[in-house]
Amino acid sequence: MNRLFLFVPLFCLFSLSLQARELIKPEDAVEYRQAAFQVMRFQFGAMAQMIRGEREFTNAEFLQRSQALHTLIPLAHEGFIDTTQNESTSRAADRLWDERERFDQIMARFKSDTAELVDVAAEGSQRQVRDQFRQAMRHCKACHDQYRLD
Ligand code: HEC
Repeated sequence: MNRLFLFVPLFCLFSLSLQARELIKPEDAVEYRQAAFQVMRFQFGAMAQMIRGEREFTNAEFLQRSQALHTLIPLAHEGFIDTTQNESTSRAADRLWDERERFDQIMARFKSDTAELVDVAAEGSQRQVRDQFRQAMRHCKACHDQYRLD
């Protein structure tokens, strides 16, 4: 009985999200993921300035920004639906769709390295933050080199 109570709403939620995915217009999904990346870039830029000593480093601000960036990753990822493959506004390379699993893996690693960055920003030294920032942010370039058109 209890299980059914859980199962029914979960099933409804699941089929709803499938429906929602199908209803998303490809051009909207591209705009959405690009917007998420733009917000990511802003947060990344502010943290990079702190790492380079161009603005004051505080754990509190770094923590907030790394949390924001971490939250944005699944949002950007969500915008890569199959129907966007031929969208003219997209700068995703064709090979992204051929190597979908690898692309998803880089996203997953980017997300876990950024989760680690959040932990280090909460408790670690400035040096640890700097090292983990480099570790997490190398995924930006690595992924762009392979899966984003110039
Ligand atoms: C797993 C792959 C991947 C990772 C990791 C990644 N990106 Fe991207 N990024 C892409 C792809 C693919 C596009 C092209 C999206 C499109 O045009 O639809 C893109 C586009 C962008 C854009 C352009 C958005 C626009 O307005 O067209 C910016 C800015 C950007 N990424 C910043 C970043 C930053 C900063 C990071 C790291 C903090 C990052 N990305 C990490 C794959 C990635």
